[in-house]
Amino acid sequence: MIKKIIFLVVFVSSLSASTISIAVAANVSYAIKPLVAEFNKLYPDINVRVTLGSSGKLAAQIKHNAPFGLFMSADMNYPDKLYKDGIAITKPRVYAQGSLAFLSKHKQDFSKGIKLLEQKNVKKIDSMAVEREVGRIIKEKTGAKVNLKNPSKVIKVVLLKDRIYLALLVEKRDKEYFQKNRPHLRAYFHPGCILPKLARCMVNLARLKEGDILLDPFCGTGGFLIEAGLIGAKLVGCDIDWRMASGTLINLEEYNLLDKVIKVKRLDAKCVKNFLNELNINKVDAIVTDPPYGISTAKKGEIEKILEMLPEVVKENGYFVFAYPKKIELDMKLEGLYKVYIHKGLIRHIHVYKKI
Ligand SMILES: C[S@@+](CC[C@H](N)C(=O)[O-])C[C@H]1O[C@@H](n2cnc3c(N)ncnc32)[C@H](O)[C@@H]1O
Repeated sequence: MIKKIIFLVVFVSSLSASTISIAVAANVSYAIKPLVAEFNKLYPDINVRVTLGSSGKLAAQIKHNAPFGLFMSADMNYPDKLYKDGIAITKPRVYAQGSLAFLSKHKQDFSKGIKLLEQKNVKKIDSMAVEREVGRIIKEKTGAKVNLKNPSKVIKVVLLKDRIYLALLVEKRDKEYFQKNRPHLRAYFHPGCILPKLARCMVNLARLKEGDILLDPFCGTGGFLIEAGLIGAKLVGCDIDWRMASGTLINLEEYNLLDKVIKVKRLDAKCVKNFLNELNINKVDAIVTDPPYGISTAKKGEIEKILEMLPEVVKENGYFVFAYPKKIELDMKLEGLYKVYIHKGLIRHIHVYKKI
């Protein structure tokens, strides 16, 4: 079976010149990193921001004005439709072709293609039969009643070649949350914002608990405040740009998080100590932030000096987690330093500092 993969250029209105956001079909995920690396050899100053997803979902987002400059789809129908609807600038072009491989221990007539799988001698697993049998055994052993509509416990069955695992589902990640909550879908958007997955990860690295106070002194569009608010933290934020400070409040309102806000206002982060004093807050439980690098957000003031000053307002055993293009030494215990490759010219260093 030949699979055509196509790309097309879609209309973009809100991108900074040095960043291009591209929508990429999930089955291109293994190839996209080297492709971006090759692109950056020719254009080292252009940051390529990749969003992976199913072609259908990405096409739907583009239809609803998601700011992508390029769409690499795994199905020709979606780009064709976007082009026909006047959403894409250029006609879709096939850029790669893939093949599906069959392997068999026995001699087969491969000329039938995918129809080969419909033959009776091709063994398939009857998942319903497995489900019935597992259900029967569980009922017999535990006396548990089956409730398919509203189960209190969910058992997952994993079949391997030579064994079967039965697992009790204890936690489920909402895989769609990060897809559905990408920043360009928010009420206030700016390309310099942090992606929610990384924002949540950094908030988690700050060991933030419900009711703790989180400060983001360079809050931008509120990426960290949203994630911290969703896990029940109380929020303090500031940004030197009034549009960002008010944009953060617009986004927090959209997420019904205004009741978590202690204060968000326009302020130079160098004045954060006085700001906290005004709020009768001596020290905060954690700071999580993403100061400007001067790439897609303007750098105002001496950012590294401000970073050096911030540990002063963190409680004992509290965390200060921040991203920066290089390692910054602070008077705190460095518990972790993680490098996230963005492009040739930018490696985000995620610092996890603890106040001891
Ligand atoms: C990289 S962005 C933060 C993005 C943010 N994490 C988000 O999710 O949108 C950095 C922010 O710092 C702000 N900024 C620059 N200099 C500042 C300063 N001296 N004090 C406070 N904010 C500043 C910029 O206006 C920008 O919004």
